[in-house]
Amino acid sequence: MNRMTISMRKFMEAHPSLKYIFFGGKGGVGKTVMAGTAALWSAQQGKKTLLASTNPVHSLSNLLEKDVFGKAAVVCDEEKCFAFEIDTKDTIERSKQEIREKINWFLKFADLTTKADDFVESATMNPAFEESAMFENMTDLMFRDEYDFYVFDTAPTANARRLLGMSKVYSLWVDKMLKSREEARSLRELLSFTKKKEEDPLLDYLLSFKDRMAKAQSLLTNDALTAFFFVTLPESLPIAVITRFINWFYEFGIPVGGVIVNGIIQKDQVGKDAPEFVRNRVAMQEEHMQEIWEIFNERVRALIPLFETEVKGGKMLQRMVEHLFV
Ligand SMILES: Nc1ncnc2c1ncn2[C@@H]1O[C@H](COP(=O)(O)OP(=O)(O)O)[C@@H](O)[C@H]1O
Ligand SMILES: [Mg+2]
Repeated sequence: MNRMTISMRKFMEAHPSLKYIFFGGKGGVGKTVMAGTAALWSAQQGKKTLLASTNPVHSLSNLLEKDVFGKAAVVCDEEKCFAFEIDTKDTIERSKQEIREKINWFLKFADLTTKADDFVESATMNPAFEESAMFENMTDLMFRDEYDFYVFDTAPTANARRLLGMSKVYSLWVDKMLKSREEARSLRELLSFTKKKEEDPLLDYLLSFKDRMAKAQSLLTNDALTAFFFVTLPESLPIAVITRFINWFYEFGIPVGGVIVNGIIQKDQVGKDAPEFVRNRVAMQEEHMQEIWEIFNERVRALIPLFETEVKGGKMLQRMVEHLFV
């Protein structure tokens, strides 16, 4: 079966309350381009749209030919599309500061003279910290709820998966922490003569954190609101990457919107006398298209041709809209 049953446009029509969409896939397959295209389309539907990049290696400014680093700016004629590259460094600095304050409070509380710095370093000097800062950034945007539609240009596969898997791990971790904090508090309250409720910023923080995580989890697993799209080329490696990815997402209960096949060489433009190099690439793509139909079948949402140049600027994005939402 080599036919698309539900196109991107049909999928969108069948999910009118969709609000958060994501693009995942191997590096270089066209995630940023598809995210930009989807955002432009959404703005053209009259929705106030935010195209946000949580990827530390930003490329929105390049795609849109406009600086959107660290600030949301209007990026199309409709005045309804905004783009925003999250300043990861700034977020990390702020998270570090927040953690420093909490650790300081705790050290004072526990009557310890140890310097907070050592703890702060060990708590923040790991890649997971950067990712969790980005995750919080993303959920902050979602909770602020200033737009009708959000398109996230997510980090390459492994990161994005960890990002989402994390909300589950977080929630388990926070539960454990909460339990021990609450036990400690009630014990102290029991032992103290004053009945005044103790202040506990650490516990308050954990509680609000758990709250936010639960809210994020419920938004991200709601298939009326959220969809993850996977972009691939008709090549073995990108196919393998998203096959694995889609299975993980099913495991996490995160809604899979479908697969976009990008970079297809248009056969009608390749004559019999075309160079061997081109004919070989076409043959290779055809083989991998078979594989794509076998694996993804009715989840294929769009077949995008390889353009004669890279995709950059409003005109090219508009052209891409016509292919992604045929
Ligand atoms: N259909 C296409 N035709 C021609 N160039 C494309 C197409 N899709 C993407 N590109 C180009 O391929 C490169 C990688 O795309 P990009 O969206 O940045 O990938 P990713 O975000 O997945 O790393 C960019 O230079 C982009 O302009
Ligand atoms: Mg990108």
